[in-house]
Amino acid sequence: MIRLDIAILGLGTVGGGVKDIINESPRLKEKLNVAAIWVRKEKVDATQNKTNDYQSILDNDDIKVIVETLGGIHPAYEMIMDAFKAGKNVVTANKAVVAKYMEEFIHEAKQNHVSFRFEPSVAGGIPWIQNLKRVLRIDDVQSIGGILNGTSNFIIDAIANQHVSFAEALKQAQDLGYAEADPTADIDGYDVENKLCISTDLAFNTLVKPGDAIKKVGIRNLLKEDVDFFLGRNMNIKLIGQARLYNQDKLAISIEPTLLPVDNTIATVNGNLNYVQLTGDTIGPLGFLGQGAGRKPTANALLQDVVDILENNPYYDIDGSHRLVIDNHNFAAEYI
Ligand code: HSE
Repeated sequence: MIRLDIAILGLGTVGGGVKDIINESPRLKEKLNVAAIWVRKEKVDATQNKTNDYQSILDNDDIKVIVETLGGIHPAYEMIMDAFKAGKNVVTANKAVVAKYMEEFIHEAKQNHVSFRFEPSVAGGIPWIQNLKRVLRIDDVQSIGGILNGTSNFIIDAIANQHVSFAEALKQAQDLGYAEADPTADIDGYDVENKLCISTDLAFNTLVKPGDAIKKVGIRNLLKEDVDFFLGRNMNIKLIGQARLYNQDKLAISIEPTLLPVDNTIATVNGNLNYVQLTGDTIGPLGFLGQGAGRKPTANALLQDVVDILENNPYYDIDGSHRLVIDNHNFAAEYI
């Protein structure tokens, strides 16, 4: 197995998570080496491989993958484009820059014969993009969508079930690292818009950009009274982002608080979890539940992309050498 040198751009919540997971995982440490971390000037520390000299990273031929965790459009856009031009593979969790520049990035990556992967840009730790692409190898997709913002879901759930105020729930989401630096992106639907644009482009082979005619209503004006009123009538409110194909060439795209019967699968998704689903021609409805935000799940998805690049995406391989004894007795007992 070749050990791959990577560089991380940014050492915030997600960048730090990438570094930590590599350090904590013996099986990943065998495969990956963090050769450099690009940080802003005031955080430079050569003893920890932290530099603000991006050119030195681009000039280092041993570094094959750039892991972009800066967030926002600038300087992420320029640094990603420079990475492609320097022949580096790029993985990113940055939905804002991917939603805006996906076409340009894909084009530039192809020109330079490198990979561009952005699995965690939509639904954090859920392997949504890779599964959507797998389905599209066989099916056309009629609809995609679901709960794509963990912060909003956390807030609605906390208001309904922990009886806290909107402001207190938002503060908890920020403290837990789910919310964006500017949480208006979470509560006004901009974060969902980015994720929906990326998913829509892939699902329908189209180009929808943030700011296009997407119906967008966030949860900023949601009142506790609203949540309780509908809960009393067995309905949950969820912030749903969705895109649906109709009349063969039309797309309906919306982001809005939506009422669902409490026993509907999506209505039962609580906390900061995301639930994203698609409907395909032959596969029918297919849903994915998981951590849509947070340090480790997002970092995990980034690292999955890196390992895919390293291993050139092979299929599963087992040799059965790790023999286990099956003992269902304890397993059953844990559920009582
Ligand atoms: N702020 C986002 C969320 C983070 O709460 O879902 C993941 O994109």
